[in-house]
Amino acid sequence: MRILDIKSCNLNDKIVLLRVDFNVPIKAGEIRDSTRILRALPTIKYLVSTNAKILIISHFGRPKAKDDGLSLQHIVKTLSQLLNKEVKFIDDCIGAKVQETADAMSPGDIILLENLRFYKEEEQNDLNFAKQLASLADVYVNDAFSCSHRAHASISRITELLPSYAGFCLQDELKYLEKAVSFDAKPITAIVGGAKILTKIKMLVKLAEKVDYLILGGAIANNFLLFDKINIGKSFFQDGVDNFLHEIVKVASKNSCKIIVPEDVLVAVNSDYSASILRETGSILDDDVILDIGPQTLHTVSNIIKNSKTVLWNGPIGVFEHSAFANGTIEVMKIVSNLTSEGKLTSIIGGGDSLSAINAANLTDEDFTYVSTGGGAFLSWLSGDEMPGIAALQN
Ligand code: 3PG
Repeated sequence: MRILDIKSCNLNDKIVLLRVDFNVPIKAGEIRDSTRILRALPTIKYLVSTNAKILIISHFGRPKAKDDGLSLQHIVKTLSQLLNKEVKFIDDCIGAKVQETADAMSPGDIILLENLRFYKEEEQNDLNFAKQLASLADVYVNDAFSCSHRAHASISRITELLPSYAGFCLQDELKYLEKAVSFDAKPITAIVGGAKILTKIKMLVKLAEKVDYLILGGAIANNFLLFDKINIGKSFFQDGVDNFLHEIVKVASKNSCKIIVPEDVLVAVNSDYSASILRETGSILDDDVILDIGPQTLHTVSNIIKNSKTVLWNGPIGVFEHSAFANGTIEVMKIVSNLTSEGKLTSIIGGGDSLSAINAANLTDEDFTYVSTGGGAFLSWLSGDEMPGIAALQN
């Protein structure tokens, strides 16, 4: 099975619907990491060079309805600056207004459409919504590896309706991940943190079959602490996933994979997260909110990493956006990057917040073996699951 390269299609004067992942971390309107935008540029520039007319589509965050804070309008200026070219924006992604503007495009024009997830039909993989998207264009290009684990209308269903191709970022991700991740260089340590527990937890079952250490941080660790009947106070956790936790623990024990959860944590002193208190995990109070790992956990994690040959990392292990809770993530980043530059470790890091954490640690893509745009997608790829967006492109 083969993925069709965009280079195999004559795009002259064609309207191309280009699915990218502009789901970048943003705070007070400022983009905190533009890696995902940068990685989409080669495909956009290529499309311009072929005289295609480019309609860019993406989701942004997880809106339940229209939400100005999650408008892709926030991305237009940066995209336009990076391309050194005008990018128009339309405040919808389907309908007559979009159609009229698309029909009036000239070759090389670029229009960014509004957040796909303002329509619930996007996540429902809805055929009619996909038809409305498809009716805008002649050709579809998926350049969003990081969304390709989702069976959503703009990723999966749309490929039933338009000739469909893979962009350069998606092709590169598959190529580099394949090259970088060898499950032979053992011991293998997976570090999984961040907040999207539900997406990730299902993938940990398969990951526990393949790795020697599974280090858990961020909100996902809270679920494991709770599962071990440890009080987590008011910390964030996901309800209704105990069956997955059972399975992960069972599979890990069968495959001699050690699951590492925090022994000590930093909790918030106040609601603005400006200061922390250290607690043993057995002494967490009812009002505490866990936001980072403590020094003892950092010591344990460092030793495991120093003895590993491969580190696969998705999701920060603390709320590093607040300086009082940045230490765990940043220190672990530094250890991983140092060992990588000394040639002692293969390190692959992925995910939107992980990209931001690399910036926060004053490091770059160059400091790791490979940095993927995918978070959940990276885990999905690692666990060997079929990714709907990739499967849909194969013929
Ligand atoms: C990501 O940030 O991993 C991708 O943009 C997918 O986002 P999602 O988890 O909200 O589908």
